[in-house]
Amino acid sequence: MAALIVVALLFYVLCAYVTLGASRPAVPLDVGYLSGSSSAGIFENGSESWAQYTPYFAVEPYSAPPSGCQITQVNILQRHGARYPTKSSHKAIKAALKKLQGVSQITSPDLQFVTNFTFDLGEDDLVPFGAQESYDAGSQAYERYAFLVNSDELPFVRASSKARVVQSATNWTAGFAAESNGVYAPALSVIISESSNDTLDDASCPALSSSSSPDAETAAWIATYTPNITAALNAGAPGADLDADDTQALISLCPFESVANEERSEWCDLFSNLSAFAGYEYWGDVDKYYNTGYGQPLGPVNGVGYINELLARLTDTPVNDSTSTNSTLDAPGAATFPLGLTFYADFTHDNLMIAVYSAMGLFPQATPLNDTEANPDRTWLASELVPFAARMVVERMDCSGSDEPYVRLMVNQAVQPLAFCDADENGLCSLSAFVESQAYARNGGDGQWAECFE
Ligand SMILES: *[C@@H]1O[C@H](CO)[C@@H](O)[C@H](O)[C@H]1NC(C)=O
Ligand SMILES: *[C@@H]1O[C@H](CO)[C@@H](O)[C@H](O)[C@H]1NC(C)=O
Ligand SMILES: *[C@@H]1O[C@H](CO)[C@@H](O)[C@H](O)[C@H]1NC(C)=O
Ligand SMILES: *[C@@H]1O[C@H](CO)[C@@H](O)[C@H](O)[C@H]1NC(C)=O
Ligand SMILES: *[C@@H]1O[C@H](CO)[C@@H](O)[C@H](O)[C@H]1NC(C)=O
Ligand SMILES: *[C@@H]1O[C@H](CO)[C@@H](O)[C@H](O)[C@H]1NC(C)=O
Ligand SMILES: *[C@@H]1O[C@H](CO)[C@@H](O)[C@H](O)[C@H]1NC(C)=O
Ligand SMILES: *[C@@H]1O[C@H](CO)[C@@H](O)[C@H](O)[C@H]1NC(C)=O
Ligand SMILES: *[C@@H]1O[C@H](CO)[C@@H](O)[C@H](O)[C@H]1NC(C)=O
Repeated sequence: MAALIVVALLFYVLCAYVTLGASRPAVPLDVGYLSGSSSAGIFENGSESWAQYTPYFAVEPYSAPPSGCQITQVNILQRHGARYPTKSSHKAIKAALKKLQGVSQITSPDLQFVTNFTFDLGEDDLVPFGAQESYDAGSQAYERYAFLVNSDELPFVRASSKARVVQSATNWTAGFAAESNGVYAPALSVIISESSNDTLDDASCPALSSSSSPDAETAAWIATYTPNITAALNAGAPGADLDADDTQALISLCPFESVANEERSEWCDLFSNLSAFAGYEYWGDVDKYYNTGYGQPLGPVNGVGYINELLARLTDTPVNDSTSTNSTLDAPGAATFPLGLTFYADFTHDNLMIAVYSAMGLFPQATPLNDTEANPDRTWLASELVPFAARMVVERMDCSGSDEPYVRLMVNQAVQPLAFCDADENGLCSLSAFVESQAYARNGGDGQWAECFE
């Protein structure tokens, strides 16, 4: 059975490689969105304020490690690329459109396009643009870290089992292979089922899904920021009787239509004109903060399993975890969790990445996010933490003049200050200080994992 899966995967990757290797998918990309810090790209103004539906952009240009340091290992944790709306978003969008398109006359010139608008997006799956984001990430990874790769040291790749995550992983490997002119074609080696213990998903904690957060907080914020926007829509389409949730759903058509059609949607212009995106952006910040972030008591513990896997790889010692790891997959010596490699890439979801950030101590906030008043000084921005195809990268390096390895960590290319392990001005911590700083993970989440099953 296992052999069959491996053969099937190899075939899949080969086919993919043959398809993609020769000619890249024809997506009319402005590559500015990939590399620079300015990234309006094909979607133009405001597309970096679409919360967790922001197309990938580099928050900062990549900075090389300090001189005298040589990277010896890289660990990438990456979100799937852009997708269609989920089933529940789909339902909310349809309900809102039904009201808006059901009026006898739309009076506002700005809303005229709604009359003939057809909503025909898919559900849940990666969109071609999202596949391209993942493919581009793979080619960028080869370009940046080629010196870590040889025929015995290919990236070891895992993915959580959701189709869009698996396809992001295989598009990444295809991009990686193409960039190496077909010389290095990594395989997707492990797919971890989302219905079991899974360090690449937040579904292993049953009590989390029955929590009232983040729905309570997002509802409060939506009620706060949408009323004047809803009033403007209802004035332009008398009788539509839209409410706050309808407005929230209609705004989301901007990112979803744009990434699906690969051009800026008219919904973006409509809601930019109504100054809706500052409020929409903050909705995503609140959503992530109270879903698996610092605002959710059962959130961060979902990131502990991945952090313990990361520590195992960085220190070349077996995984020690009592939370979401699957002890069969991660057993010492298991082919599904090899140690001692130079390159690891894992594919996942935004909520898991947020749990990892919070369990690790990244993006600490001076005050919790307030669900009725946005703090303009917050550094917790969903668009910068978990845009589509977001990536957290941990580089391990040796530096001349020191016997100790060092680590630095980037989120969407922005080097994180790592105050918790006393990083230097380049963001470098000694590996031992970094390990030491991760006591919450090493202690299995200080007993919080048990609360998942209460
Ligand atoms: C890339 O993702 C798309 C989904 O958008 C999928 O159809 C395709 O098979 C994937 N390609 C590879 C090489 O995995
Ligand atoms: C983007 O902003 C620029 C400068 O503010 C403006 O000239 C342009 O019309 C805007 N484009 C869109 C699509 O909003
Ligand atoms: C909607 O489509 C019809 C039929 O193609 C066309 O006559 C009408 O002008 C369109 N309305 C708008 C507002 O674009
Ligand atoms: C652990 O992984 C193995 C191998 O994939 C799988 O058969 C098993 O169901 C998993 N168990 C749990 C509890 O996740
Ligand atoms: C947005 O505002 C611009 C500038 O006033 C206008 O040209 C455009 O028609 C408006 N678009 C929508 C959809 O409201
Ligand atoms: C709604 O209120 C916000 C916050 O005061 C403001 O920025 C925005 O321009 C207003 N929008 C409309 C359509 O009046
Ligand atoms: C799966 O997780 C549960 C809860 O943490 C744990 O009791 C169990 O041993 C794990 N199973 C495997 C195969 O790792
Ligand atoms: C949020 O801000 C409002 C308005 O400033 C304030 O009344 C409320 O107490 C704050 N809530 C929290 C939990 O800090
Ligand atoms: C594994 O972690 C537990 C705490 O979760 C600790 O008590 C134990 O000593 C660790 N084992 C090893 C071999 O490091």
